[in-house]
Amino acid sequence: MLLQGRILNDAFRPPIPGWLLIQDQRIVEVGHGQPPSKPDAGDASSIICPGFIDAHLHLPQIDSIGHDGLDLLHWLEEVIFPAEALWQDESWAARQVETAYGRLLRAGTLGYAGFLSSHFHGYVHVVRTGHHWPIRAIVGQTLMDRNAPPALLNQSLARIASSVRSRVNSSINPRFALTCSDELLALAKSRAAPGTYIQTHLAESELEVQRVRVLFPNDPHYAGIYDRHGLLTPHTLLAHSVHLNDAEWQLIAERKSVVVHCPTANIFLRSGVFDLDKARRFGVRLAVGSDIAAGPDLSMPAVARSMIETAKFRTMTIDGAAYIPSPAEVWNLITRGNAEALGWHDAGRIEIGAAADLLVLNPPFQTDDHLVEQLLYTWRDDYIVARIAAGRFVNAPPSPKESFETGPSSRTLQRGR
Ligand code: GUN
Ligand code: ZN
Repeated sequence: MLLQGRILNDAFRPPIPGWLLIQDQRIVEVGHGQPPSKPDAGDASSIICPGFIDAHLHLPQIDSIGHDGLDLLHWLEEVIFPAEALWQDESWAARQVETAYGRLLRAGTLGYAGFLSSHFHGYVHVVRTGHHWPIRAIVGQTLMDRNAPPALLNQSLARIASSVRSRVNSSINPRFALTCSDELLALAKSRAAPGTYIQTHLAESELEVQRVRVLFPNDPHYAGIYDRHGLLTPHTLLAHSVHLNDAEWQLIAERKSVVVHCPTANIFLRSGVFDLDKARRFGVRLAVGSDIAAGPDLSMPAVARSMIETAKFRTMTIDGAAYIPSPAEVWNLITRGNAEALGWHDAGRIEIGAAADLLVLNPPFQTDDHLVEQLLYTWRDDYIVARIAAGRFVNAPPSPKESFETGPSSRTLQRGR
């Protein structure tokens, strides 16, 4: 496959007019100037950039976006747990994976790390869907053994997916300390072979932190609970991390774990304002995620823009807040930065040998100097004219098909499983 366009590899540099040759899922040649033959996609005015990577989302929440007015714990109880319980119906789970993948592709997201429901079959459907839509993924069943409806509690961990299949890697996902006993956290650790990704949530809301303190009175702080179980590793993704003390920041930095900032979700649930200054001062590894459905936007440029706006807001309202990331910095974060955080060292970049997970864009402007700023602040999914995942063109379903379905009837659910 041959692509032509202005190559936007590193957002800190202007795009370079040229072409890419793709074979066997990889970029095998990068050329400047005119392509050697007629391209399969793009032209001299197109932009070619890496596909976006989302470092935190929940597939079973794909139809739960926008239930406003609740704080985190009430929203989980009233909106999210019922939506995830619907996944006990296997055909429903399969359809929801398809729906989520279609929308991710439309948004240009070609890789993600995320959560399924607590049901094993969700993983099977992700692997199946990945055959026709080869989105790269680190994904795991949600693990819970308390403070959630019985339909969502893992009875045993006998059926935790542990395979590495094609582009789907399974991770170990204890939901968060409120829904996991010490026994479950210990079991989670025992199931995480070295190098396995661990995903969880940490200190998203103040009420959550207070409740965790009551449940784990002997731990010095929230991050310390996960650390006591050996769950803070360089392969650990800690979503949110809004309400941390300095000892927690220090610990996370020492463990080289990744904090996944979810700015749109923090605003939607009014959970708090992420402290980017602290993350930088302690040298914590950082990624960024949509956190669908707490975050309303699937589009990673929208999430990246929200990251800038959150930082600006802090500087206007909080003494001592200083750092505001640039558009180029957040653009790089949703491509190569998130790729590094997920251990995909061959992704999020355009170079020989890199995975061919690419977008061809035709935005309605031609600037070079302010290209990334303009892309970020005017972003629309229909700038994307071609999506290439694992070296082949993939078609996202058109948006009108995105009907919001209601779940299977409660009768169906009672009958089975
Ligand atoms: N904390 C525990 N579970 C969740 C979830 O599903 N979404 C968000 N935003 N926070 C959580
Ligand atoms: Zn989450």
